[in-house]
Amino acid sequence: MIDKARGLPADQVFLDLEDACAPLAKPGARKTIVAALNEGGWEGKARVVRVNDLTTEWTYRDVVEVVEGAGANLDCIMLPKVQTAGQVAWLDLTLTQIEKTMGYEVGRIGIEAQIENAKGLVEVDAIATASPRIETIIFGPADFMASINMKSLVVGEQPTGYDVGDAYHYILMRILMAARATDVQAIDGPYLQIRDLDGFRRVTGRSAALGYDGKWVLHPGQIDACNELFSPRQEDYDHAENILDAYDWFTSEAGGKRGAAMLGDEMIDEASRKMALVVSAKGRAAGMTRTDRWTPPAE
Ligand code: GLV
Ligand code: MG
Repeated sequence: MIDKARGLPADQVFLDLEDACAPLAKPGARKTIVAALNEGGWEGKARVVRVNDLTTEWTYRDVVEVVEGAGANLDCIMLPKVQTAGQVAWLDLTLTQIEKTMGYEVGRIGIEAQIENAKGLVEVDAIATASPRIETIIFGPADFMASINMKSLVVGEQPTGYDVGDAYHYILMRILMAARATDVQAIDGPYLQIRDLDGFRRVTGRSAALGYDGKWVLHPGQIDACNELFSPRQEDYDHAENILDAYDWFTSEAGGKRGAAMLGDEMIDEASRKMALVVSAKGRAAGMTRTDRWTPPAE
């Protein structure tokens, strides 16, 4: 799996010491992870290791062994089931100690905080600001569903009996607000029915539409759909680039120095430009090219 992951078109790979790793396998897995990071081959991907959460006895050894062994070849530590800002502060200080001891650049290794229970969600603003190392806030739906006693076994799908909206809307939005308020990424967690691509697309489409920056994939088969759903549709990308060009022209001397103008049947102003910047940035990051180009009206 590790070898295969090196060649997959995912933006990040995380190697797991937590829930996908049985307790008896954890000491061996630390060594496998250090070797895999140091062997390289991860160009173009963020390299992340998920350690065990701080209510277990494993966390400190996970961090010390992995960062001492492969800190130069590691971008972030993912801390699961974060419940307080203090837990993030612990990880920040521990990373600083190891960086100083090993002669690594202090502060380079980031932290990804997974929100997986009610306490973590209630504390999410403090967690998001607990360290300048925080790069990402992640929703962990499986643990979260268990933690709030949700009566369902299918991660990300609406619990049977709840027929009046999206049972995850508040949680997703709460995490998104904390992330945006501190300018860090918001990432949606896994979809476990790996053969159900329609289900994956349905659930992924929701967090992508809200403004999330990405979602976990558990299987190579989920990657293309995920990349597609987090990219704008071609018509939206073209529209965004056209708004930027048109607004640039309308606000110029030649375009009449106008702060509000008509683009076809649509009024555009500074707020339109800001929305267009978001869609255009997502499209450019995905390597999209324009299929339609606005041109200024002829004299
Ligand atoms: C991921 O860790 C989850 O609990 O969904
Ligand atoms: Mg979890």
